[in-house]
Amino acid sequence: MNTAYHEPVLVREALEYLITVNDGVYVDATTGGGGHTKAMLEHLSKSAHVVCFDRDADAIAETTQRLQLWKSQLTFVQDVFSRIRDRLEELSIDNVTGILFDLGVSSFQINNVDRGFTYQQDAKLDMRMDVRSGITAADVLQTYEENELADIFYRYGEERRARRIARRIVEERSKRAITTSGELTKIIRDSIGEKYLTKSMARIFQALRIEINAELQHLSKALSQTPDILHKGGRLVIISYHSLEDRIVKFFLKEGSATHKKTDDPFARHDREVEPAFKILTKKPVQPAPEEQKRNPRSRSAKLRAAERC
Ligand SMILES: C[S@@+](CC[C@H](N)C(=O)[O-])C[C@H]1O[C@@H](n2cnc3c(N)ncnc32)[C@H](O)[C@@H]1O
Repeated sequence: MNTAYHEPVLVREALEYLITVNDGVYVDATTGGGGHTKAMLEHLSKSAHVVCFDRDADAIAETTQRLQLWKSQLTFVQDVFSRIRDRLEELSIDNVTGILFDLGVSSFQINNVDRGFTYQQDAKLDMRMDVRSGITAADVLQTYEENELADIFYRYGEERRARRIARRIVEERSKRAITTSGELTKIIRDSIGEKYLTKSMARIFQALRIEINAELQHLSKALSQTPDILHKGGRLVIISYHSLEDRIVKFFLKEGSATHKKTDDPFARHDREVEPAFKILTKKPVQPAPEEQKRNPRSRSAKLRAAERC
């Protein structure tokens, strides 16, 4: 794993929304290289505790080492964040002060060519965040039906030429299995030409990554558990990097903060009054300041939304 320092995104803003109590119990649902966790620990008092989730065993192992100094204040959990409620229950934690989600892949995962997250270098098509389970990108390309591939590219990559690319993949894989990013790049180039190649590669890679790791499903599941975990006044902070994630977050917070819901009664004249779970703290998503975007290109697509448990 590459151990070079990687700047976490929107750190100051995330901490501002997340931290309300200096000795509280916090959850970093996406620990990665530990940048946000470290910033939290530097800010919090010595009696605060942070539970660090990540599905990637390498990330957990590396970050456990990196944050040795705060060992007594940390608990690491290698698991998907959609199991957050059960895993916290096992730790007898039910009163969390703040939860942070910094979604997507880490710089460590992208920069480690063997993990197959990048198309910038020729590498094996893997893209699993947890390499111990699940199918690889190569497996998806080899086994999915043509229309399934096209749907994924369109839905998760918002790629307009999805059908054409899927058709070409199916033609090529019948001659030889597609196992490397170089082979996939050539197929995409052959089907759509050079002009939009880089953008299409980014979209296809995003789509495969979301599919393989069931990213949107885990996100929805995890968000729905957060009202049970946070105490009153506790904060939920989510940083997302593409519109599919942001849409899920936005919808979840909108629903969770609603004071009225439609009734099942078609003749009802008024919506039903309900207790909202959250108060939204960010009317519009917070985006990195121009200096951060310049310094850290990865931050450019980031959007932060925050809410407080009512
Ligand atoms: C953008 S990185 C987080 C970077 C981190 N905030 C830092 O400062 O280094 C996202 C991390 O979330 C993890 N992750 C993504 N989806 C997950 C899920 N469903 N469950 C648990 N971890 C997940 C990835 O493995 C990755 O390490």
